[in-house]
Amino acid sequence: MALRNTGLAMAVLIALTACGSNGETASSDTPEPAVIGERQDNFEEIGDAFRVIRGELENDAPDMAVISANAEIINANAMNIEGHFPPGTGMDDGYDSEALATIWERPEEFAAAHERLVSASAAFLETADAGDAAAVAEGVPELGGACKNCHDTFRLDDE
Ligand code: HEC
Repeated sequence: MALRNTGLAMAVLIALTACGSNGETASSDTPEPAVIGERQDNFEEIGDAFRVIRGELENDAPDMAVISANAEIINANAMNIEGHFPPGTGMDDGYDSEALATIWERPEEFAAAHERLVSASAAFLETADAGDAAAVAEGVPELGGACKNCHDTFRLDDE
């Protein structure tokens, strides 16, 4: 009886030790980095805000306050993107992500695509704040182009 208990205790100890030493290298057990969900939520908000703006522009009298508020979300979230892509968090690393390896292979191009969104969304926000719905509508393709420019090269095309 006493012998068995000792054996069990030893087995547990060995299992714990093995678990501790393997933890760092066993990638299949590594939880998904939180930053992946954060950046996807951030993009989701950008997408939702852009959808609200385009929907509002279809009304006879677009609510410019709604458009401005959503343009502000896009601009604020665009500036969040910078810290959202640490190396080792792409789809090739085995995560549930549409981030392509090109992000880390062509960092300058990715930074330029990010910068394009930051400036396009800032310009769009300025137009929205000026209150001219027609001018905002004219600015939609320019903003949408900044999304597509990045997605074409850096996001998995799953359509
Ligand atoms: C600098 C590059 C870049 C720009 C600019 C960009 N995106 Fe993305 N977007 C990505 C990447 C990369 C992903 C995939 C992220 C992942 O799955 O980890 C993504 C994912 C998304 C998603 C899916 C989020 C989810 O739930 O997984 C939406 C929606 C989206 N983007 C909308 C937009 C819109 C709208 C714009 C423009 C206003 C935009 N993006 C601009 C790179 C960009």
